[in-house]
Amino acid sequence: MAILVTGGAGFIGSHTCVELLNAGYDVVIADNLYNASEKAVDRVKQITGKDLKFYKADIRDKEAMNEIFEKEEIESVIHFAGLKAVGESVVKPLEYYENNIAGTLVLCDVMRNHGVKNIIFSSSATVYGDQKPPYVETMPKGECSNPYGWTKSMMEQILTDCAKADSELTVVLLRYFNPIGAHSSGKIGEDPQGIPNNLMPYVSQVAAGVREQLTIFGGDYPTPDGTCRRDYIHVVDLACGHVKAVEYADSHKGVEIFNLGTGTPYSVLEIVHAFEKSTGVKLNYRIGERRPGDLPDSWA
Ligand code: NAD
Ligand code: UD1
Repeated sequence: MAILVTGGAGFIGSHTCVELLNAGYDVVIADNLYNASEKAVDRVKQITGKDLKFYKADIRDKEAMNEIFEKEEIESVIHFAGLKAVGESVVKPLEYYENNIAGTLVLCDVMRNHGVKNIIFSSSATVYGDQKPPYVETMPKGECSNPYGWTKSMMEQILTDCAKADSELTVVLLRYFNPIGAHSSGKIGEDPQGIPNNLMPYVSQVAAGVREQLTIFGGDYPTPDGTCRRDYIHVVDLACGHVKAVEYADSHKGVEIFNLGTGTPYSVLEIVHAFEKSTGVKLNYRIGERRPGDLPDSWA
């Protein structure tokens, strides 16, 4: 029996495949390589010394998904596949709703038709909206500030309704805070196309001389040093959280929500200074305008 990892060639997916293989699970990846390379799959095999099955497949393609479920003995699904660029989702809402939601509907339908009863879903702290942190799983969801966030909120609802309709189904909703870092082997990590949207890849590219200067978005927030605070979680810790979620799903039914964060916030300036200290590289940065939609504080 295997775990199907949709989006398994991506940043969080590839790190999760390493931890699943190390824990002794068989792994099958379905990824359309829209935002990833098959090289990451080879690297996962190199790191673990274990084999896995890779299908270049789009989760919206019912025929392709059916074929995977027919060929492989899938026990649980970890569902990472999706588009994730917040700014792009504002400009291309239809593409985001179509890829993320239509893809999830096809996946759930194929799972149902093949009697697969466990799904672990990549959600985001963004579903809490603009409330006062710490964010706790029992809080009501809030208003999302962009279509990407709404796709996560809607997919949580779709999966919750599926579990209400099928008492055998287990749905684990994992709400990630800010995943950062890379595998200690240096063989896999975050490698965004074009100009990075997120803080850590931007910081790394400035340090590596790929970009000239980091702009810190806002220095006048109501926080101790005026810059926004976030809950940064190492991607390998996040990946281990998925192995725990698979174990949890094996012995529980119904819907459960787990935050995946550390519970400790750090400001952008603290991150910049910690990066400088640990690498010995001085970062060229300036404090600029606030970025629309940013919250001052977010932590688990
Ligand atoms: P990523 O872009 O590296 O990984 C997503 C993978 O899904 C990519 O490999 C991409 O090629 C694949 N994909 C996209 N659409 C697909 C489709 N229709 N069919 C098949 N494959 C498809 O992103 P990531 O950072 O690894 O994020 C993984 C998941 O976690 C996403 O759902 C994302 O929204 C969610 N998430 C990420 C963060 C973060 O900060 N990285 C935070 C919260 C939630
Ligand atoms: C954002 C999304 C979140 C998504 C996550 C991963 C919003 C409101 N939230 O989180 O839904 O799950 O990305 O894609 O968009 N920063 C700078 N300079 C930069 C880049 C970032 O100062 O060049 C700051 C931001 O203002 C923020 C912090 O660094 O305070 C972290 O930013 P980022 O990595 O983009 O993550 P979030 O905005 O927290």
